[in-house]
Amino acid sequence: MSHIKSVKLAPEGKRRIEWAAQGMPVLAQIQKRFKKTKPLKGVRLGACLHITTETANLLIALKAGGAQVFACASNPLSTQDDVAASLAKDYKIPTYAIKGEDHKTYYRHIHAVLNLKPQITMDDGADLVSTIMKKRRDLIPGIIGGTEETTTGVIRLKSMEKNNVLAYPIIAVNDAMTKHLFDNRYGTGQSTLDGVLRATNRLLAGRTFVIGGYGWCGRGLAMRAQGLGANVVVFEVDPLKGLEAVMDGYRVMPIAQAARIGDIFVTVTGDINVIRYEHFKLMKEGAIVANSGHFNVELQLSALRKKAKRVRRIREFVEEYTLPSGRHINVLCDGRLVNLAAAEGHPASVMDMSFANQTLSAEYMVKHSKRLEKKVYPVPAHLDQWIAEIKLRSMGVTIDKLTREQQVYLNSWELGT
Ligand code: ADE
Repeated sequence: MSHIKSVKLAPEGKRRIEWAAQGMPVLAQIQKRFKKTKPLKGVRLGACLHITTETANLLIALKAGGAQVFACASNPLSTQDDVAASLAKDYKIPTYAIKGEDHKTYYRHIHAVLNLKPQITMDDGADLVSTIMKKRRDLIPGIIGGTEETTTGVIRLKSMEKNNVLAYPIIAVNDAMTKHLFDNRYGTGQSTLDGVLRATNRLLAGRTFVIGGYGWCGRGLAMRAQGLGANVVVFEVDPLKGLEAVMDGYRVMPIAQAARIGDIFVTVTGDINVIRYEHFKLMKEGAIVANSGHFNVELQLSALRKKAKRVRRIREFVEEYTLPSGRHINVLCDGRLVNLAAAEGHPASVMDMSFANQTLSAEYMVKHSKRLEKKVYPVPAHLDQWIAEIKLRSMGVTIDKLTREQQVYLNSWELGT
């Protein structure tokens, strides 16, 4: 029922899943309630997510809630094979994911999940939904709804909604405060640097670190790169974000200018061909280039491959391209998200909140399916607020409460100067 690398990897996967669980107290609390109340009883739930230790804990919680869960990878390079093995063997969750799977296998795995006829789809990048829309429309009548984990997926789904082609309701988990303000910012900030460092073992202090995109991921990455002593340069297309980056203390300039001075480049824009051959050509000898956006479209590697005189794997995760000029450009993880391909993705304590949103959104979807239209919905604010409260409590942090007088003041307009 599963397609994984090797079942022998399961014991290591199980230990690592248990390690991640220690950093996920909010999810644990939900799992405990789910076990008693079974809000997802009998619901077939197909998940297309990065197969990591954190995702394993999410799937275990959903199963505890009574769902029949099955999973495939949302990226060909992010799968942790030991985790996939343990999910299949120890937790009896059918899993279709092998690190390094080719494009054909990636889609074969998506179809394997769809063949199990999910009633809820849980996506990270909207590949389940878009495959259903393009190739498996027969499944639509049986689907209650779906959830979406990431910015890129939400953009794709909103475009479907705008074009009146979205076939069922979706909850945009990414847009919850307890998701993007933490996962995108602190998660991507830390795990992207983790990936770059594991892949290269280079010192960042004193280096020029160029970041494409100043959304929540870019903001987090800039903050952490600066913390390690890098000189951060940002390139942007949005004047507000460009302005924010300037006021946060970074240099902002077009990529054509940044290309000449950068030592390390990372894209986190969600858009296509952000660093192109015209920019690669301008880079310094030995420049390092990576992407941490969802899809491997941000670096124009096809052009680089075509023009390169030589390409060689110089170390794990690093491809060295020799340009006609003789200069070398080092590309990490073939332009796939460096934080999951070379490292382990975001740490458990931040995925705790993202995946708490996923579980509560799935429960909400099942409970309110009759009322929801074919639209992209936000996570209900009270769920977002609850997750923040429980997360704070789990960290041993308490905050103040408004006094009666303060409540009245905030609800009145008569008082002034
Ligand atoms: N996306 C980013 N980091 C992740 C992780 N650790 N698990 C699942 N999805 C992720």
